[in-house]
Amino acid sequence: MSLQKFDPEEIRRKSAEFEAATLEEILRWAWETHGTRAAIGTSFQGAGLVVMHTASKAGLGFPAFTLDTGLLFPETLELKATIEKLLGLTIESLKPDQSVDEQAAEHGPELWKRKPDLCCTLRKVLPLQKRLGGLDVWITGLRRQQSEGRERTQIAELYHFDVLRDRCILKLNPMANWSRDQVQDYLREHNIPTNPLASRGYRSIGCVPCTRAVGEGDDERAGRWTGFDKGECGIHTFLGASI
Ligand code: ADX
Ligand code: SF4
Repeated sequence: MSLQKFDPEEIRRKSAEFEAATLEEILRWAWETHGTRAAIGTSFQGAGLVVMHTASKAGLGFPAFTLDTGLLFPETLELKATIEKLLGLTIESLKPDQSVDEQAAEHGPELWKRKPDLCCTLRKVLPLQKRLGGLDVWITGLRRQQSEGRERTQIAELYHFDVLRDRCILKLNPMANWSRDQVQDYLREHNIPTNPLASRGYRSIGCVPCTRAVGEGDDERAGRWTGFDKGECGIHTFLGASI
């Protein structure tokens, strides 16, 4: 099904229907309708691991990718290798055009301390945009409970990922209605290795310079971009959901 033919009404209907479906049923629908034109994007946090494990167990061969900014924690990169081995798949690393040093030469050192939005655009949003251009469906691990800004996440959304060239994709958030406890239970039940930083108070894990540990009562994403009025890297926001 060509993306241009995605009908917003149809997607809304499908999304409502998916509220009562299991994760495996939603993923199976994506596989049967789009095959490898659907891909899983993961940051190796709980929800993404659940999605990858469920897909793999059900024999759904989605490609998987991660945005490797060059500033990820060593623990995250180790977990990537462990998960690849466990699930028997290769997770593509999407890299920015410039290395961290090249970026520093052009924009000055530690751009994240001065212009984190620009840094995220260069290191996450643009590489993602490039990959989404070759896909029909982007499968994420977004959950409504993660933060206030994510409360209205739909399971299926028509997502305008390239405003300049007017390109849309079907964004599938099959974990939208999962709680943090459900994710943790699934991981425990299936013995899935997780990021060791999580047990040290890092409840949301991104790049080293922009992530800190938080307290139990804090919003899950409170430890990201401390000191800035910024709660999102832009891959879910700057590009705009069109419905
Ligand atoms: S983020 O936008 O702040 O980084 P978060 O870490 O909560 O988000 O992850 C939410 C979802 O966004 C993930 O489940 C994944 O689908 C996508 N995502 C976030 N970071 C990455 C990344 N580095 N690579 C690929 N996908 C990512
Ligand atoms: Fe740069 Fe921080 Fe964004 Fe990573 S999270 S790309 S270091 S601003």
